[in-house]
Amino acid sequence: MAKNVLVLPGDGIGPEIVTEARKVLELVNERHGLGLEINEALVGGAAIDATGVPLPDETLAAAKAADAILLGAVGGPKWDTNPDFAIRPEKGLLGIRSQLELFGNLRPAILYPQLAHASTLKPEVVSGLDILIVRELTGGIYFGQPRGVREKEGGIREGFNTYVYDENEIRRIGRVAFEAARARDKRLCSVDKANVLEVTVLWREIMEDLAKEYPDVELSHMYVDNAAMQLVRAPKQFDVVVTGNMFGDILSDAAAMLTGSIGMLPSASLDENGKGMYEPCHGSAPDIAGQGKANPLATILSVAMMLRYSLNAGEAADQIEAAVSKVLDQDLRTPDIMSEGMKAVTTAEMGDAVVAALNA
Ligand code: IPM
Ligand code: MG
Repeated sequence: MAKNVLVLPGDGIGPEIVTEARKVLELVNERHGLGLEINEALVGGAAIDATGVPLPDETLAAAKAADAILLGAVGGPKWDTNPDFAIRPEKGLLGIRSQLELFGNLRPAILYPQLAHASTLKPEVVSGLDILIVRELTGGIYFGQPRGVREKEGGIREGFNTYVYDENEIRRIGRVAFEAARARDKRLCSVDKANVLEVTVLWREIMEDLAKEYPDVELSHMYVDNAAMQLVRAPKQFDVVVTGNMFGDILSDAAAMLTGSIGMLPSASLDENGKGMYEPCHGSAPDIAGQGKANPLATILSVAMMLRYSLNAGEAADQIEAAVSKVLDQDLRTPDIMSEGMKAVTTAEMGDAVVAALNA
């Protein structure tokens, strides 16, 4: 049966970067005879404008039916003032993640040697960088109940969220991380705040427990504040990092900048069976939307991850990654990775260059 890819462009720069990624996907689909059927649907602010909700039923149904999902980005100032959180673009994204149980979020931060000078850190600190952040994506404080804003005595309003993980949730993300570490340098650093938060005391305990099943993987623990510091001080000490939803959100943005630009970082969000949604780690960047300034490479690299993890097309994935490296060798740069002597290109020119490199 033909495999089915659902494309969700979303908001801001989402449609531009997805257009480029789609060119790449369509090319490899044809070249490798993958027989993929590619459909598009609305999510986020675009869906709110068209239907009143960020995750229309048709989109959710299409996402459930798809073999893999490619998402651009969601959100923007136009929708940020809605006091009803249910009608915010981000709810579209979070809804897909939770409804499809895409709990395992892989965020590789790899420094392309060509971009060593694009990082704000010294080249020697980041050169050769290759870390994988494994972020729990469907639990923790993002989804914990109760949550809200209420009035307490004296009419004072208070906001509250709940940071909760049960041991099964911790164990299943732990397994993803241990397996990933086993396939890499066999070092896993679990990031928590066990000096303050009980939920992460349990997190640490479960990780220790799991470590017994993975004697070949060296497990260490780090508090999240220290991890943030170590990531910018000496990032190459890390191989695989595993952490909860919110810490992972924050640390992966920091890790992204080590690679020169958040515009280079792809991600995969996987369920228990390897079905996944693929998206760049960056957001919708409304300030540069529609100007041809966005870097499509994170989305193109997300297509490569999709081919590898969900569509059983590892060779096509390798070719896309090689093509990205080649356009960087050609000195082509979008503004976020620009440095002296390089050639400035637009979003579409970058996408076309990857296609040309694949065709060469
Ligand atoms: C990310 C984003 C999302 C998150 C937002 C858009 C809800 O920052 O994927 O990292 O916080 O998970
Ligand atoms: Mg984020």
